[in-house]
Amino acid sequence: MRPSTIAIDGPAASGKSTIGYHLAQYLSYLYLDTGVLYRAVTWAALARQIPIEDEGAITRLSEYLPIDVLPSTHPDGRQYTVQIEDADITWAIRTPEVDRAVSPVSAYPGVRDALTRQMRQIAARGHVVMVGRDIGTVVIPDADLKLYVVASAEERAHRRHLDMQRQGKAISYNEVLAVIRRRDQIDSSRETAPLQAAHDAILLDTTQLNMAEMFAKVEWLVNGYS
Ligand code: DC
Repeated sequence: MRPSTIAIDGPAASGKSTIGYHLAQYLSYLYLDTGVLYRAVTWAALARQIPIEDEGAITRLSEYLPIDVLPSTHPDGRQYTVQIEDADITWAIRTPEVDRAVSPVSAYPGVRDALTRQMRQIAARGHVVMVGRDIGTVVIPDADLKLYVVASAEERAHRRHLDMQRQGKAISYNEVLAVIRRRDQIDSSRETAPLQAAHDAILLDTTQLNMAEMFAKVEWLVNGYS
């Protein structure tokens, strides 16, 4: 039988979102990139000029903010549409300001509790591919299939840099590498739900794999050959 709940974790730019999105299409499942929820809270805090250090105010914000993640509404390369009160923030949550502030926001335990509750409600319906940092360890530890996707920091920086160049963003490879290393450090050393592989996750190293090879490998896994 094919897995109904699939948890995919791993560091930034490891290929987990590409793999997750592909699997969701392949299986006709719902795709939820959970980083989007942390980014939406961060974006809303910046927009409301709430200081990022104000843990209490940001935690309250995460408890009532109505974040919607819908199937893509525009053919502009997006995998889904993110909305807050009808405002389309799909691209606004990908700015360097949000990139910088999202790691501290996602380290607040109250924010994690509020967003984890939302994720579990979605997971309970099944037929879902959920991608993040703590999906297999905390959010849905009873997921039917868990993947932990990794790649070297240099390879991840190279991929992110290419993406940014395609989007016309002027940033050097070394800056991208520095941001990736800093986020890895914060994400894996925070006290609540640090980035780590679940003991029963399948480890997938994508450093040397191209997209077709990654897809073939995960299709093989969901079809029960492990
Ligand atoms: O995957 P991403 O770059 O969009 O994630 C944004 C941030 O949110 C990143 O700092 C890690 C954090 N995150 C998390 O702590 N737990 C998740 N399940 C998903 C993302």
